[in-house]
Amino acid sequence: MITGAGGQVGRFLAGEAARQGRAVSALTHRQWDITDPAAAERFIAEGDLVVNCAAIANVDTAEADPETAYAVNTGGPETVAQACARVGARLIHLSTDYVFDGQQRHPYEVGDHAAPLGVYGRTKLAGELAVLAAMPDAHIVRTSWVYTGGAGNDVVAGLRRAAAADRTVDAVDDQTGSPTYVKDLVDALLEIGEGHISEPVLHVVNDGACTRYEQARAVFEELGADPQRVRPVSAARSPRRAPRPSYSALATAMSVRAGVSPLRPWRAALAEALVQPVDSGQLPSTP
Ligand SMILES: NC(=O)c1ccc[n+]([C@@H]2O[C@H](COP(=O)([O-])OP(=O)(O)OC[C@H]3O[C@@H](n4cnc5c(N)ncnc54)[C@H](OP(=O)(O)O)[C@@H]3O)[C@@H](O)[C@H]2O)c1
Repeated sequence: MITGAGGQVGRFLAGEAARQGRAVSALTHRQWDITDPAAAERFIAEGDLVVNCAAIANVDTAEADPETAYAVNTGGPETVAQACARVGARLIHLSTDYVFDGQQRHPYEVGDHAAPLGVYGRTKLAGELAVLAAMPDAHIVRTSWVYTGGAGNDVVAGLRRAAAADRTVDAVDDQTGSPTYVKDLVDALLEIGEGHISEPVLHVVNDGACTRYEQARAVFEELGADPQRVRPVSAARSPRRAPRPSYSALATAMSVRAGVSPLRPWRAALAEALVQPVDSGQLPSTP
């Protein structure tokens, strides 16, 4: 049972789960508003595995409308978790590296102090806490800098278009994170969904870290475009509405020890994403 199935992660998860022959209900925002308790009661049944991919995931959108961000990123997951706990369903809830403030200079592990800088991170952290309060055996999966590499709205897809159009791009060289290929994230979600892992909070990202600038150069290099067309800029020179942590790489050692298969290095995943971009296609029809 997938919420937010019209989004980047939900759509690909639905496609992959269906390809594997699983019985998938993939519901978009229009079909299931996660802030609606009656909808949660209607859709969730005993024995279901619910993967909550619904969110206000755009950091600047969240900053501009904190009320909606709080309703969707905190109230929504709480409502879904309460319904799961009541009927006896399992829950995987997605969260983010932006729960951290970026003061650290080595990858953040699960237990490191979370201190979000903006509305998005605050509402997501509150969502994590609300889920675990309602349902201590739920899984929180924190991921980061997710991309498809295809025709979507994600950073890598945008860089692909810029490389093909002979454009020059500016990329921030003072924000470091863990780029994560949606295909690898989805494989991990399906593995966690098997139910063999008991740790509640998990980090799932491709291995390693880079700056936005390094990521952009890597995209150009992989596509055979001139990486000199990527120019480094500081975050201060390209102001955005919401603050972003300058460092939010995630460490995965604890999650791997808990049973999550390690994801490949970010550069190898990027290379595959650019050669064979994933196509999630149509959402599978709801059984
Ligand atoms: N993308 C990343 O880089 C990234 C990084 C770290 C963590 N995450 C987390 O990963 C999860 C999935 O993100 P994503 O990249 O797939 O984001 P996305 O592409 O923006 O998808 C989110 C989906 O949630 C839907 N939605 C919004 N409000 C809803 C509501 N009240 N009820 C039901 N659905 C609602 C949106 O539908 P509409 O557009 O129609 O409103 C959209 O289809 C989120 O929890 C996000 O915080 C993402």
